[in-house]
Amino acid sequence: MAVEILSVGAYTPKNRVTNDALADIYKVDTSDEWIMSHTGIGSRYIASEKETCTSIAFEASKIAIEKAGIKANDLDCVIFASSTPDYKTFPASSSILQELLGAENAGAFDLNQGCTGFIYGLEVGRSLIVGGMKKVLVVGAEKLTSHLNWEDRNTCVLFGDGAGAVILTESVSDDSKIIDSFLRSEGSGAECLKVHKGGSKYPLIAGQVVDDHSFIYMDGRNVYNFAVRAVADVVRILMEKHNLSEDDLKYIVPHQANKRIIQAAAKRLGLNFNKFFLNIEEFANTSAATVPIALNEMDEKGLLVKGDLILTVGFGAGLAYGGNLLRW
Ligand code: UT7
Repeated sequence: MAVEILSVGAYTPKNRVTNDALADIYKVDTSDEWIMSHTGIGSRYIASEKETCTSIAFEASKIAIEKAGIKANDLDCVIFASSTPDYKTFPASSSILQELLGAENAGAFDLNQGCTGFIYGLEVGRSLIVGGMKKVLVVGAEKLTSHLNWEDRNTCVLFGDGAGAVILTESVSDDSKIIDSFLRSEGSGAECLKVHKGGSKYPLIAGQVVDDHSFIYMDGRNVYNFAVRAVADVVRILMEKHNLSEDDLKYIVPHQANKRIIQAAAKRLGLNFNKFFLNIEEFANTSAATVPIALNEMDEKGLLVKGDLILTVGFGAGLAYGGNLLRW
């Protein structure tokens, strides 16, 4: 049985913050010139205090449900891919979202695989449909700015908030489907990208001060090297497996972490950089949300025609990576 993406929706908070404004508001020792030249990031959207990861996911999910022409109670499952859920341990954000949506016939679970979460979610959602479910919501959503150390310029300039969601269903024709997925993990690099404190390994202790270990930490150089290798591997492996040439693919939609990572991977692959869809300049890195936000933008701009072949690529914390080959 083939499974297709029936619709896509996305949402970003209203507050768009440029590099200069970020430096000014958060007193970060940085510059637009450094951020643009090292990452390709020009701005990011920052959620208000009132907005939660789940409320951001809700807005994107509502749009995907409406575009699909279904009702929330048609959903059989809600898969919530995020590294920044509303609560650290439980309840799962997927259950909160299920209630907000009124998806009373749906099961719900969270999927924590960092920036590769949505890529994993698509494949898990596909498997659930093959297993008999009719409609599955996969949402990638993040409120990363609530986990940033604004005194760490190595990380605080990189991330933003947002969400993207898709509805999966059985394909009505062979023209649209999730053709294949490739999922991998390189746990040897797990320490390179983490929030050290607050889990069961380094639990919170009453009275303990919040310090650098309470926020997102990244060994940027190591993750960068991994990322270039991961993007190149995913693209090469899926293209070789399906005997695809560059011309066969309409777009490669990568996780938006750093423009230079994509330039280096394109060079390594011998592919035209223009094959890669990038919107990092506007949105920055929204982790599990980057790929569905990009798919939504491409859909809204009419860049995708039914039957187009596209390849998504994710990489990040874990260190996990992977991709999906889709016929739109
Ligand atoms: O989504 C999850 C996956 N994440 C990624 O894939 C991210 C991977 N890593 C990267 O994209 C890059 O490594 C970064 C963007 C994080 C850093 O870029 P870089 O070119 O590797 O810079 P660097 O870490 O080698 O730092 C170079 C210099 C340092 O100064 P010194 O020691 O040479 O004097 C940093 O202190 O740039 C400095 N620097 C900054 N300067 C101004 C680091 N961050 C900033 C900043 N503004 N925001």
